[in-house]
Formats: sequence, structure tokens, C-alpha cells
Amino acid sequence: MPGSARTRWLAIAPGRVNLIGEHTDYNGLPVFPIAIDRDVRIDFTIADDPVVRLDSPLARFDPFAFQLKRPIEAASQGHWSNYVRAAARGLLEHGVELRRGIVGTVTGDVPIASGLSSSSALVVASALALLKANGATLPRLELAALMARAERFVGLEGGGMDQAACLHGVAGHALRIDFEPLRVTPVAVPEGWRWVVASSLVRAEKSGGAREAYNERARQCREALAGLADRSTDGMPAYRDLMAADDLDRVLRRARRTLAPVLFRRFRHVVTEGRRVAQAEVAVGDGDVRRFGHLMVQSHESLRDDYEVSTGKLDAIVEVALDAGAAGARLTGAGFGGCAVALCDDTTVGPVMEALVARFYQPRLRGPPVGRVVFAVEPSPGARVEEA
Ligand code: GLA
Repeated sequence: MPGSARTRWLAIAPGRVNLIGEHTDYNGLPVFPIAIDRDVRIDFTIADDPVVRLDSPLARFDPFAFQLKRPIEAASQGHWSNYVRAAARGLLEHGVELRRGIVGTVTGDVPIASGLSSSSALVVASALALLKANGATLPRLELAALMARAERFVGLEGGGMDQAACLHGVAGHALRIDFEPLRVTPVAVPEGWRWVVASSLVRAEKSGGAREAYNERARQCREALAGLADRSTDGMPAYRDLMAADDLDRVLRRARRTLAPVLFRRFRHVVTEGRRVAQAEVAVGDGDVRRFGHLMVQSHESLRDDYEVSTGKLDAIVEVALDAGAAGARLTGAGFGGCAVALCDDTTVGPVMEALVARFYQPRLRGPPVGRVVFAVEPSPGARVEEA
């Protein structure tokens, strides 16, 4: 049995900041995130019976309990237990026997509904806690893919970036993540590159309002592909095949002729963003902060104009950060609110944060920001379970 009944464990799962490669994962194209030094934690003991019983110090997250027996029913939409249920359901459907449960408390410092993947961190922490309770293990890539599928239980047709970043984080490294099949390649981030995260003060709930808009984008991407399918061959092309087979400008010219304007713009974002990931990886390798920053700005413009997932507040943060000396800035995560990320160095990180407080937060909050709405993050290790 894994640990005595009284042993207390800590499942720790980091949030992530995507540096570049937005809305590419569910199209089978790569992403480039970091796991961050902010996490979700489940402080738990192992229960002898198959039950999950969790609470939170935050009043808006009411305590809940459910049995680890199929079928695991969803709680009402938006209820936080659905992320834990999703993890349990994924493991059970994968054939992992869950004879023991967990009893504990969830805490964390990943801002919620901010595009920093607090929800996937909760899913991953729950899965690791349940695996620990049952003395089971799964290879990390397999678990990441499984939890990405499992999280769709909550209703978002998400890709696999968040769970993979959470499970594969490496201190000091960004993660190039490829899909179909899932692969993760850590890439060292040059010394002195600093990442600033700034909240737009607007929540982007994966299980709420942002969900429909997100799922609509995923649908449009599929429609665009179908519109470009070569009638002489069977089946749908993949974005990856289209990009590999032809030069991108030719693909874009054909897409412009063939697709309705809105589908063309969605398509153009996806394929140019896929190319930017490859270029960004080279820029990191070369230590070229200007080039990486420039790609971030292009990414933001494409998300704003072609993919239409930015907001006026995210645009304003990007503008202030660039104006104050950031090498690059862009919205991060799904958009529709949430956070932006800026690339700085040791000399610009202070001025950029000060400018954001003075020019973005103070006027909107009519005073200094309370709580941490703008903060620096570090590429950090992935999820794990430790003895508490
Ligand atoms: C959300 C999803 C991810 C990814 C991003 C956009 O965070 O969970 O899979 O699609 O949006 O890049």
C-alpha cells in the first residue's frame, strides 16, 4: 500500500504560460509554453474506500464528495468539482482501478480563469493524487494525452497543450510540444530573459462564456480544412500536411480564393502561427530576444485581427508593455480576457511592470492594484507528488 493511511501527500501541478503558438494545438500544430512557478496543490490523505472528498479555503469553492465508480456524473456546469471528476473519469475509462480515494484540501496561487491553465493544473493534480492513492503510474506522455481528452468532459474542445506543459515542465526551459503523437522537447531559455504576466482583469472561464467562442473557433478551423480538401483524395487534410507539402504563401493564396473571408482569416492565423513557433524556437536557440519579441507581436496581431480572440484590454496591455521597453508582448492562452505575457530582460522588467501599474491598472482600478495582477514568472518543473 502506498504510504500509511495517515501519511499526508501533496500533489503539486503548475500553471503554464504559453509563449507562442496559440490556438494551434487542436489543429495538430506545435505550441511553445513554459510551466510556471505558480501551482495548484492538493494536500491529501489516502482514503480506504473509493471516494473523493475535497474542500478549499475559498468560500466560492464549496466542499464536495463523489464515489469513484462509473459512471461519474458531472456536477452542474461551472462547478469546480468537474475538473476532479474529469481526471477520475479519464483514469477509470483508461482501465486504471481506483479502489482508494483521496480526502484533502485544494489550494494554489495560479490565478483562476486567467488563461494560465489553473483548470488543467487541477485536473493533473487530481490524477496524480488518485494514481498515488492506488499505487499506480502511467507514463507522463500517456497521462498528458489522457488528461487532455478527459478534460473535454468539461465541455471545451481543447487541445493538449495545458496538460502536457503541466506534466513536463523543466526549470529554465520552454517546451516545444508537438501533437499527433504528443511529443515534448525542452528548449533552454537564455539567461536573462524575463517573462512578465499581466492580467486583463477580465475572467475567461473555460467552462463558461469563453467556451462557446473557443469551440466556434475550433469548428471554423475544421471547416476551413474541409473547404481546402482535395476532392481527388479521400479524407480531410491535416494542417501539418498542408504546411509540409507546399510553400505557405501558395497555400494561403489558394485558401484566399477558396474560403469564405472569416474562414480564410482563421486559417491564416493557424498556419502563420504554426510557422512562428518554428521561428521562435530558432530565436531562442540563437538567444535573439528581439526576434522572439517580434514574433510575439506578430502572434498578437494575428490573434487580434484574424482569430478575433483579443480584447481592448489585452491590446492595451501589449501596447503599454512594448512602449515601456518589452521586446515582445501578446495575449496568452485562449484569449477573450485572461492574461498577456511580455518578454523583458533585467533592465526592462522593472520599468515594464511599473508602466503597467501606472498606465493600465491605476486608471482602471482607480488606485493601486490589490493582489498580484502583474508578476514575473519563471520556467519551472512539472507536476509531482511529494510527502507533505
Ligand atoms: C486553451 C486550451 C488549449 C489551447 C489554448 C489556446 O488554453 O485549453 O488547449 O487551445 O486555449 O492556444
